[in-house]
Amino acid sequence: MHNHCNHTHARQYVGSGGLEIRIISSPAGDDLRRRVLRPTEPLWHFSFSPADDYFHLGAFQSACLAGVASFLVEPCPSIEPPDDNSTWRLRGMATEPQFQGRGIGAALLKTGFSEVRTRGGRLIWCFGRTSVEGFYQRNGFRAVGQPFDIPPTGPHRLFTMRVDT
Ligand SMILES: CC(C)(COP(=O)(O)OP(=O)(O)OC[C@H]1O[C@@H](n2cnc3c(N)ncnc32)[C@H](O)[C@@H]1OP(=O)(O)O)[C@@H](O)C(=O)NCCC(=O)NCCS
Repeated sequence: MHNHCNHTHARQYVGSGGLEIRIISSPAGDDLRRRVLRPTEPLWHFSFSPADDYFHLGAFQSACLAGVASFLVEPCPSIEPPDDNSTWRLRGMATEPQFQGRGIGAALLKTGFSEVRTRGGRLIWCFGRTSVEGFYQRNGFRAVGQPFDIPPTGPHRLFTMRVDT
């Protein structure tokens, strides 16, 4: 899929402001997610169970898809209850390299937390890369347990946060 963010003049969109966050289809985010998260895997995309509730968010600067994040009902692999329909997993969190560090990731999370709450969610968890641990912690997650390896992308930790308090 063609992506305007690859244009060398993409930075000008950020300066003009107007970040818009919308629900998108899963395939609409596949190209960005794959390039940012799995650049060595030409056909990578994540699968999920459409039987459970889910939504995919896209952050747009003008016509440009600059960031994505997905939220899916999925039990949390920690001891924390509840492992039921109120437990959501954050997946595929990625911002185009030229747009990183400008608050797009934080805006995607804020919108996602609110939407999860609206849909009855109480706990959100993710396997986050330790390379961006500060990002998750500054946005309200706390790390649970020790780092572990997820080949081929390296060390991760389980992060959780409650959204019902
Ligand atoms: C992790 C990632 C999704 C964060 O998205 P982002 O759009 O860069 O997120 P933000 O801009 O909200 O925050 C990133 C950093 O920029 C800083 N920042 C936020 N707003 C900013 C602004 N307006 N100007 C400058 N810096 C800013 C934040 O302090 C944050 O720093 P921290 O990591 O120390 O907390 C993105 O960097 C990315 O795609 N990384 C590569 C893929 C990856 O690791 N994904 C996570 C897989 S688990």
